[in-house]
Order: sequence, then C-alpha cells, then structure tokens
Amino acid sequence: MKFIGSHVLSVDQFDRDAIEHVFRIADIMEPYAHRRKRTRVLDGAILGNLFFEPSTRTRVSFGTAFNLLGGEVRETTGMESSALAKGESLYDTARVLSSYSDIIAMRHPKAGSVAEFAEGSRVPVINGGDGANEHPTQALLDLYTIEKELSHHGRSVDGMHICMIGDLKYGRTVHSLSKLLCMFNQIRFTFVSPPELAMPDSIVDALERAGHRVDRVEALNGSLDADIVYQTRIQQERFASQEEAAQYRGRFRLNSEIYTRHYKPNTVIMHPLPRDSRAEANELDNDLNQNPNLAIFRQADNGVLIRMALFALTLGVEHLVSRYDTDV
Ligand code: CP
Repeated sequence: MKFIGSHVLSVDQFDRDAIEHVFRIADIMEPYAHRRKRTRVLDGAILGNLFFEPSTRTRVSFGTAFNLLGGEVRETTGMESSALAKGESLYDTARVLSSYSDIIAMRHPKAGSVAEFAEGSRVPVINGGDGANEHPTQALLDLYTIEKELSHHGRSVDGMHICMIGDLKYGRTVHSLSKLLCMFNQIRFTFVSPPELAMPDSIVDALERAGHRVDRVEALNGSLDADIVYQTRIQQERFASQEEAAQYRGRFRLNSEIYTRHYKPNTVIMHPLPRDSRAEANELDNDLNQNPNLAIFRQADNGVLIRMALFALTLGVEHLVSRYDTDV
C-alpha cells in the first residue's frame, strides 16, 4: 500500500503488511505522545479537522496527534456552521478547504460522504467516520489495542475469540474492525444482537469466506471462552425514531456480575466509546472501572498514536520524526 499522498477512507485499502507498518510507526510515536520528547516534523503544516457529526475522541485525538507532530489545526464542527447548510456540495467544499490545509480529517453522518468529499480534495483525506459505514482509524486503534492486550496473555490475533455485542447494524466501528480482521487467521466471532440490529450479511459472508467461524446469537448464554468482549452503544442517532432506539437500550449490559458469569477472568473488555451511561442504557457499567481487563481508556490513548502514525505516513515524514525532535 502506498501511504504518501493517499486518502484513508476504508479498511479495505489495507493489507497485513500495511497494518503492521502503521503499528510500528505508532510504536515510534509513543515518547512524543507521552511528552518525553518533542518533534516539530510537521512545523508549518495545517490539518483541516472537519467534524459534521458529534465527536469527542476522534476529533480531539486527530487534533492532538497533529499538534504533537508540530502542526496546526483548523477546525469546523457542526453542519450548521458551515456552508454545507447553504446547499454547497461536498465537492466544492473539498476543493476550497483542500487549498487551506495539507491534510483533512473528516466525519459526516452520511455513508459514503467522506469518499465523495475526497474526490474534490487536492490533499489526503482521512475518514473519521461516515454514517453507519466505516471508521477506519478506530478499527486500526482497536486492532492495535487487541494485539497489545493479548500479548500480555501470550496470545495473538490469529486464533482469538472475539465477542461483539449490541448494535452491530449501525455500529461502524464493528464493521470496520470485522473487515480488518478478515486479513487474519482462524478467528472465532460471536455476534450478540437482536436480529434487527445484526451484523450486515455482507460482513458475515466476508468473514466466513476468510475462513473464520461466526456464531450469531440474540443473548449471552452460559460461559463464553472469549479473549475479547467488544461492547457497543445503541446508535440512537441512526434510528428512524427515538422510540425505536429505546426498545434496544439496556438489553446488552455488561457489569461485574455479568462479566464474572459469562467471561474468563482475563477477557479483555473493549468499547469504542462513548459509552451511554444513562441508567436505561448503561451498556458498560462503572463497576468495571477498576477491573484491570478494562481496556477502554488504553484504547482511546492508542488513538493518538495511530493517528500520529497515519499523518506521518500520508505526509511522508515518518522517517524524519526523530530528526526534528528534542528531549522534554
Ligand atoms: N470512538 C469514537 O469515534 O468516539 P467519538 O464519537 O467521541 O469520536
């Protein structure tokens, strides 16, 4: 895969070598992300950070990653504060904004919109989530986290058992992560959701074609030999009505008691966040906050490393990072 100058729109662009390359560059970013060193490798460069849908982690970690490499960030948040609200096309917006920036990160509520935007852009565009479709940088940071967490238990991604739970229809993070995992070997997937919120057949077919085992169930039953449990939020913003979303909220809770009943003592707990902490939802209870297997904040931290790596690779400076560094 050629990184330099390329858009990052889908996990389909990656092969295993490309994934490993991103992860090794992410490892190199650790001292900079943890403020032990400083680099100015992107001094003078500008990130256009365009978030037309709510975000905390992805938006701020893209910005933080760019700042940590020495670059500056110009941000647009919310459709209503951009000319898209006046009927401007994504193509025109891209043509204009890409002359103000060296690279663009973008989130938009419509599936396919980031790719449409990229057609008009003269600089690389990184997909920060397009509707229910994809969230490639989240998938990369999830996989990076899984590799790191499993390595503590002497396990690897190949041969693991992952259990994904909740809204698997509208949850773009589980779509992108599953597609990425097609490139690995002999993984067992347990998808837990109501049939109406099931993982799309196209993704299940791709996993089965890749030789993985897929079980689809409507509820947890007995003990699961899972290495990873990946909880998701009911994506209320994608439902036709809030009443419809409310039917599913609270059906797939995970708390200490449920964890002990259904999982191994070292099953790693993941969630892309935000977790819906309202009492009627609470898919991942605070009573697990002190559980050492809870990886959700390590996951979010890893987002900065992965996004630093992607910026360095797409702008072609990954080999220059240490040349422009100083100790803190
Ligand atoms: N995981 C994730 O995409 O979080 P945000 O919606 O806060 O960006």
